[in-house]
Amino acid sequence: MTASRPLALVTGASAGIGYALAQQAARHGHDVIITGASGRVHDSATRLAADTGVQVTAVQSDLRTAEGVDQVWNAVTATGRPLAIAMLNAGVSLGGAAFVDTDLADELDEINLNVVSQVRLAKPIARHMIANRAGRILFTSSLSATTPTPFETVYGPTRAFVYSFAQGLRQELLGTGVTVTALLPGATATEFHARAGMGGTRFGDNSWKNDPQVVAVKGFAGLMAGRDHVIGGDRATWRAAIRQRILPERIKAAQFAKASRPRCSQ
Ligand SMILES: NC(=O)c1ccc[n+]([C@@H]2O[C@H](COP(=O)([O-])OP(=O)(O)OC[C@H]3O[C@@H](n4cnc5c(N)ncnc54)[C@H](OP(=O)(O)O)[C@@H]3O)[C@@H](O)[C@H]2O)c1
Repeated sequence: MTASRPLALVTGASAGIGYALAQQAARHGHDVIITGASGRVHDSATRLAADTGVQVTAVQSDLRTAEGVDQVWNAVTATGRPLAIAMLNAGVSLGGAAFVDTDLADELDEINLNVVSQVRLAKPIARHMIANRAGRILFTSSLSATTPTPFETVYGPTRAFVYSFAQGLRQELLGTGVTVTALLPGATATEFHARAGMGGTRFGDNSWKNDPQVVAVKGFAGLMAGRDHVIGGDRATWRAAIRQRILPERIKAAQFAKASRPRCSQ
């Protein structure tokens, strides 16, 4: 009975924007596979299933590794069902310090999750959807894709990669029945900046940021409409997106540093 519902996959959906995207998929009648790095993904799946009445499957895996990516894709293929929607959302940042003071191993981990895992997962997903002549792929990038991100120096480039990758893949898949959309949220009130070690920065204050529900509603609507990209957030986020198209990189870098620089080093 449940197999009559289309199937959606959302990575990094134990919390934050990913959980809100999974809620959108469920509320629009999809069974959902949600993934997360820690054991709490199981509790999140139980809560989402209870709230929405759809079938929710949890996969706990570390997407920084090839094995973790395989675990996720194996969970999809084990259903024997076509994947209607894939939302590749898991991502982290590393901030709270200058590049020269951070640990290179942490930055390489960040690249493995934010960039490499997206490419690894996109390959079987795109092939599977093309074979089915139907599917929708959402990549969570960031407004940080459009600005240098000092004091999160590696993060912005990882999001720029995903934005550009999504647009290239979208062009290749035109006419196949598969759409690709990039979601560019502005700063959003999740655990993200605290986990990035940015508690002592303006980004550490969640009070002024976008509601993850608002971001997810816009992202999901844009995905279903087959849009190339969606700015995730309120009017201020929209204005920032427009400004960032116009301003030179050095000006944007200086502005970004005002919010990302640890207060003790100002
Ligand atoms: N928040 C913002 O201001 C903002 C703005 C623009 C773009 N974004 C983007 O939005 C996406 C989601 O961010 P968020 O704000 O929702 O962050 P979040 O609340 O910290 O959630 C991150 C999610 O990613 C999962 N995750 C972390 N490390 C992982 C790993 N190694 N392997 C697999 N999953 C892992 C987490 O699982 P566990 O909880 O189990 O660890 C969690 O489900 C990211 O790609 C981020 O770049 C965020």
